[in-house]
Amino acid sequence: MTTDTRNGARVAVVGGGVIGLSVAWRAAAAGHAVTLFDPKPAAGASWVAGGMLAPVAEAWPGEEAVLELGEESLARWPRFVRELTTDGADPVMNTAGTVIAAWDPGDAAQLEVLAGYLRRVGRGAELVDRRQLRKRVPGLSSRLRIGLWVPGDLAVDNRKLLRALQRACDHRGVRFRHEWVEAVEPATVRTGSGEFAYDEVVLAAGARTGMLHRELKDLVRPLKGEILRLRARRTSLPPPPLTVRAVVENRPLYLVPRTDGEVVVGATQYEAGFDETVAAGGVRELLDAAERVYPSVAEYELTEAAAGLRSASTDNLPLIGRLSDGVIVATGHYRNGLLHAPVTADAVVALLEDDEPPGAARAADPARARKEASV
Ligand code: GLY
Repeated sequence: MTTDTRNGARVAVVGGGVIGLSVAWRAAAAGHAVTLFDPKPAAGASWVAGGMLAPVAEAWPGEEAVLELGEESLARWPRFVRELTTDGADPVMNTAGTVIAAWDPGDAAQLEVLAGYLRRVGRGAELVDRRQLRKRVPGLSSRLRIGLWVPGDLAVDNRKLLRALQRACDHRGVRFRHEWVEAVEPATVRTGSGEFAYDEVVLAAGARTGMLHRELKDLVRPLKGEILRLRARRTSLPPPPLTVRAVVENRPLYLVPRTDGEVVVGATQYEAGFDETVAAGGVRELLDAAERVYPSVAEYELTEAAAGLRSASTDNLPLIGRLSDGVIVATGHYRNGLLHAPVTADAVVALLEDDEPPGAARAADPARARKEASV
């Protein structure tokens, strides 16, 4: 067995997506000796993501704990960005807010349900008519019915974020091991090249986390999503200046602009096991919906089509907490991995130090899901 001999608590983080990188960075900044295992960090679902930080637009009746966790994390984002900019690089946030548009009468009814729910729980969102919607985002289709203005939901450039986190990890002395983890026992990580001893192992391998620990087998599953990247051409209307979400014939859509003329269009959502192939039907569905909502995208250059696997739990709330002595889990972030990164990292660091995790993160303790699975 190989033993890491640096000072402080020895922490292994399994998984180098946004959650694993954030946990590794914050844990190293808190003084722990961190090793991150991933054959290809800064890839997977985090690389494919749209980058929305959107607790309100993602809210739905019955998922109050997800909303509260998202808001707690969103409140931590400004500080997260400041510290990340110091340690790594600026991940470039878009603070212009979000609109959600409805395509047909059924979609408008769905938006009204969301608006009514948000009103009841006292969250900031305002229904706007077609004219006000197009005033906010001039290139939107004149056929859209109504919209919801959500000023507090923001976005970040997911790829700049991942690169910044990698740099911040390097800056704080995180050691990267570019290999798969085959098994995790308390205090031990086994890979193809040997066994490594740690004081704590943090399981943050997204959809694959269920394979790493027998207790997680039925609690985390992959949920496929396809996205497109399109780039405005010199002669076409630029992308919207803020995040545009829409419901088009009962399907959710988003267009998230980047600062360089590119826009991320997403996302499909369906169960397909660990299949990461981009299906032609997914591309067609996204292009068709995007063109209806923001017609100019038809002239854009299609620069990329990609698929990623969200990690879904059984109740859409992540699993963040201690599984056993020496093993902590941080996965199951569903559609909110980027949003939840700061609160998850803070919760894991608190657990490493035997402190209480942030208030809203306590609802994400895996004990609730294990209890349900055993009934
Ligand atoms: N965060 C949006 C998605 O998962 O597609």
